[in-house]
Amino acid sequence: MKRTAELTFDGKTLELPTVVGSEGEVGIDIATLRSGTGCITLDPGYGNTGSCESAITFIDGEKGILRYRGYDIAELAERSTFIETAYLLIYGDLPTRPQLAEFSEMLTENQMLHESMRHHFEGFPASAHPMAILSAMINAASSYHPNLIHKREERFPFHAARLISQVRTIAAFSHRKAHGLPVTYPKSTLKYTANFLHMMFSMPGEDADLKPEVVRALDTIFLLHADHEQNCSTSTVRMVASSRANLFASASAGVCALWGPLHGGANQAVLEMLQQIHDEGDDGSKFLAAVKDKTTDRRLMGFGHRVYKNFDPRALIIKEQCDKVLAQLHQSDPLLDIAKKLEEIALHDDYFISRKLYPNVDFYSGIIMRAIGIPLDMFTVMFAIGRMPGWIANFKEVMEDPTSRISRPRQIYTGPTQRNYVPVEERA
Ligand code: CMC
Repeated sequence: MKRTAELTFDGKTLELPTVVGSEGEVGIDIATLRSGTGCITLDPGYGNTGSCESAITFIDGEKGILRYRGYDIAELAERSTFIETAYLLIYGDLPTRPQLAEFSEMLTENQMLHESMRHHFEGFPASAHPMAILSAMINAASSYHPNLIHKREERFPFHAARLISQVRTIAAFSHRKAHGLPVTYPKSTLKYTANFLHMMFSMPGEDADLKPEVVRALDTIFLLHADHEQNCSTSTVRMVASSRANLFASASAGVCALWGPLHGGANQAVLEMLQQIHDEGDDGSKFLAAVKDKTTDRRLMGFGHRVYKNFDPRALIIKEQCDKVLAQLHQSDPLLDIAKKLEEIALHDDYFISRKLYPNVDFYSGIIMRAIGIPLDMFTVMFAIGRMPGWIANFKEVMEDPTSRISRPRQIYTGPTQRNYVPVEERA
């Protein structure tokens, strides 16, 4: 039976069709709302608004389910790699061996930046945040590829590979520049994540020690961040793409959206918070009291999620990884103890229980990154490298959708009604 929704306004009833997703999610199609009633919907923060139909990622926030193209995140984290998962997200299926080999080859072929781009790095002050550099340099990279604009469909696989590969090179170069270190060029013999760590940490004449457990831990972090349906940065990428802007421009906008502390910037904010609690000699209880005090706007960073109202499956995997990596590296970290204590208190506290606030992906990821030597200001950059395949997959979906229109929300205007201009000398 076809299900419809009825909306009555000013005595007039409008029948609205529904759209049902492959996992049973129902959306009410309001395309005729304005023409039928003269009204629009109002949903600040878009908590009730589906902006698109998408076949990439499925989340059930109540059950803590996350699947990329139908594959459970835990299974991918255990058995796949970041690059294989990137292919899955972008092209829809796990690659065959030759497809994976071809994809990896394209990544290697495209890993070098145009040599002139090195000069752009010199223009940033030493204090520049690597996310600012990343966003600017991704956009700058587009200017080296004029065919991005004119042949976007035809050249897509090439540009997608170029972007995944070069975001890693740009990220490593920005770290080297910020620390006054000579840049290290990528090595064709290394796989994606090992190559990134090489560019970050090798010194002239002394290659970095690429411990397999460190490479695997970072690769898993990238994989866990690879997509997350219509979050703030992905929606930004789709919105920019809807104007037919090119892939690099759209991804660069995604980096800017990700930077904020409520989104990807939370991983840096979590570590700063844990460090502050540690430095103040607090066991976490004083900090949590301040978080619950509604006269402050303090938040327990790394907690809460718009969609997950039970648990974030990525957080469970990362917490487990965290213990494993620290044990493998024979390290202990007082900040991990504080994080666990905060989680334990929060999970038994009515403030957090009643608001369904649980640890999210960012709560423990920073501790792993710190253990493997990633500097604090590069944490959000790691998120951006990981999220790139998701942004690209969403860009592709917009580009290939024949019904796609420019994203252009409406508003309810609340400003002054019409006023007449008053010359400056007559104004009170
Ligand atoms: N600490 C304390 N209180 C919180 C928190 C938190 N981390 N998160 C939400 N709340 C409270 C909030 O104050 C509000 O309380 P009240 O109803 O009394 O006003 C209630 O919970 C609902 O919050 P909201 O801001 O309406 O929720 P949202 O869905 O708009 O925000 C969020 C989601 C992730 C931005 C938010 O939970 C938050 O700010 N968390 C901390 C930042 C963070 O960890 N971000 C990373 C998200 S996961 C990675 C990613 O995908 O970006």
